[in-house]
Amino acid sequence: MNDFKHISVLLNEVLDFFKDSKGTIVDATLGLGGHSLALLEQNKDVDIIGIDKDVEAINIAKDRLSKFESRVKIINSSFSDGIKQVLLERNVVGILADIGISSYQVDNLDRGFSFYSDNLDMRMDKHSLLTAKMVVNSYSKEELHRIFIEYGEIKNPIPITKAILDYRKKSTINSAKELSFLIESNSKINSKIHPATLVFQAIRIEVNDELGELRRFLKNIENLNNVKVAIISFHSLEDKIVKEVFKYWSRSCICNFDVIKCVCGNNHKKGDIVNKKPIIPSQNEININKRSRSAKMRCFKFYG
Ligand SMILES: C[S@@+](CC[C@H](N)C(=O)[O-])C[C@H]1O[C@@H](n2cnc3c(N)ncnc32)[C@H](O)[C@@H]1O
Repeated sequence: MNDFKHISVLLNEVLDFFKDSKGTIVDATLGLGGHSLALLEQNKDVDIIGIDKDVEAINIAKDRLSKFESRVKIINSSFSDGIKQVLLERNVVGILADIGISSYQVDNLDRGFSFYSDNLDMRMDKHSLLTAKMVVNSYSKEELHRIFIEYGEIKNPIPITKAILDYRKKSTINSAKELSFLIESNSKINSKIHPATLVFQAIRIEVNDELGELRRFLKNIENLNNVKVAIISFHSLEDKIVKEVFKYWSRSCICNFDVIKCVCGNNHKKGDIVNKKPIIPSQNEININKRSRSAKMRCFKFYG
């Protein structure tokens, strides 16, 4: 049905984390179904609810998971909304989220995530309203600065923003190709990565509201009991959110740090952080799959 490949990151580590789980595991970022397939194969007592906002990815995953049809349910939704529906319906024992984009989305030039694409789209959900083309061609100087600084962590976005605004006076920026060339010609970023990488990251995060999605998702699962959660992220902004939320969940006292005496009741601990430091791919995995190199997995266990 398709030739797209996506190598699931930290697969052995995910399997190991869920090896004793029996019941429903939510794969909140189903993608092409790689993690789900391996979880279903590993343990016959596991069933999967997969969520993804990308219909194309879902169609591929459905095909790959077809032999486990009776143990799989798929929901086409954002994970922040989808998880609410799942938790109303099922008693869940595990949650996995491998957030970000899949190789399928990057490699499929129509989707406009790649530097070489003739489109400028970057939507994971093709029905959502905001596209990369709208961001690049209609955002004000201040809005572009904000996303480049906040989401791209670019210290000095002025040359890039200026180049975009100057270009816009003459013509619309129609493709990712045009945009990456423009950035390459005007960037003062001196690094080993392609100069457009951080700008594309910033636009993608804005288009898909990636950090808002993650925050809402974590909020919606914060009161679970006896559930194991594993979150794999690919950049520091997401990892920081996961790290801070897990830390908060593991605190018994949730008073502000400046209060002299605890007033919260000191009974708020929801569970344990499983690994103090994030789990990262081995050198062997990075050699096989270069895209795994920035992955970090953090795990949490809610008490029963
Ligand atoms: C890295 S891929 C997952 C790959 C999958 N674990 C596998 O092994 O095949 C991430 C997937 O999550 C989806 N995704 C990212 N953010 C999402 C969100 N907020 N809601 C729903 N799906 C999301 C993307 O569309 C993409 O298909």
